[in-house]
Amino acid sequence: MARSGKDRDTRVKTARKRSASSTRWLQRQLNDPYVKQAKAEGYRSRAAYKLIELDEKFGLLKGVERVVDLGIAPGGWSQVARKRIPNASIVGIDLLEVEPIEGVTIFQMDFMEDDAQIALEKALNGKADLVLSDMAANTVGHKQTDHLRTMGLVEAAAWFAIENLARDGAFLAKVLAGGTDSDLLKLLKQHFRTVKHAKPPASRRGSSEWYVVAQGFKG
Ligand SMILES: C[S@@+](CC[C@H](N)C(=O)[O-])C[C@H]1O[C@@H](n2cnc3c(N)ncnc32)[C@H](O)[C@@H]1O
Repeated sequence: MARSGKDRDTRVKTARKRSASSTRWLQRQLNDPYVKQAKAEGYRSRAAYKLIELDEKFGLLKGVERVVDLGIAPGGWSQVARKRIPNASIVGIDLLEVEPIEGVTIFQMDFMEDDAQIALEKALNGKADLVLSDMAANTVGHKQTDHLRTMGLVEAAAWFAIENLARDGAFLAKVLAGGTDSDLLKLLKQHFRTVKHAKPPASRRGSSEWYVVAQGFKG
């Protein structure tokens, strides 16, 4: 079917001050169907669809009453959780400021600080059924450093999950290509009945991100 002028991909002119890579990013962003869908459906991020797809595959949100959203900004995952489990209590944290989301308690803090984890635990007021982590470290361009920093976040999130999940709870976290490193995988397998890796369709094919899905917390 011929496409009308309106449907045609948006081309971005290279502005003098814009670098080639940011022009590429902008062009991809403007032509990305998930970005368009997020805009139309009122989600703050295209990342929302990763949680939707992972929930459809693994039933992560089913029957959940308490959720923790680590790396919540700008809020797409919590919006999805609010929609799918409107009575659940949701607590999130990010280094960045997040516009309020009705029914979600948000802390602007560094998750790696002890007082941040204490604040989350207090706000949870009980054991969580689901701990989500979409946290990603700011990359510095040095492959090993970036890998270590991201894995440090995943490991801290996993320990937080182990300490705060209710029996049968689940943990979902963004990891890098190659999956979870062996020590962490061992830890997760010790504490959860099933541990799987997935790359939802909404995760860009060229990106190195994957997700680890651990379900059936042994308590
Ligand atoms: C990919 S974004 C999350 C997108 C989110 N899931 C959504 O649907 O809108 C990753 C977030 O992790 C946050 N982050 C990275 N390190 C963090 C830390 N140490 N403490 C808290 N948040 C952190 C970043 O600031 C960033 O906003």
